[in-house]
Amino acid sequence: MSDESLQQLIETAKLARLQSIAPFSSFLVGAAVKTEEGKVYTGCNIESASYGLTVCGERVAIWKALSEGERNFTELAIVADTESLTPPCGTCRQIIWEFAKNATIVLGNLRGESQIVSIRELLPRAFDARFLSNAAEWRARESSKKTS
Ligand code: THU
Repeated sequence: MSDESLQQLIETAKLARLQSIAPFSSFLVGAAVKTEEGKVYTGCNIESASYGLTVCGERVAIWKALSEGERNFTELAIVADTESLTPPCGTCRQIIWEFAKNATIVLGNLRGESQIVSIRELLPRAFDARFLSNAAEWRARESSKKTS
């Protein structure tokens, strides 16, 4: 993907950010995820009065795309109005790892600064479904040892 394509995605995330519903934090976040076919899904953070129910912009974008049947993502842009570029929170890192692992992630702010990061760098030694299937296989091997 080109720098131009990432810059365009940042602009889309910037617009999505304006839809944020963030009355409690006033911290507006926009996200945009691009599919292999070039389709873009956007998201913004949506806060609940029951604070813990708040959903981040990144996850809204990813949920929208997944719920439309998309599975393969090439780029993800995240934009907030911060001096130090805002990275995805821990929960979003997990979701990016599971559903958008191959996407190039670009962080941006309103001053035109941007930086590319990778989910491998943001979430080393990630947990995912492999551990569940490995554990099931391991239990099966252990129990067959006991019965033989
Ligand atoms: N937020 C995001 O949308 N994405 C992030 O990666 C960090 C945090 C939102 C959640 C909440 O609405 C506000 O920012 C303050 O935490």
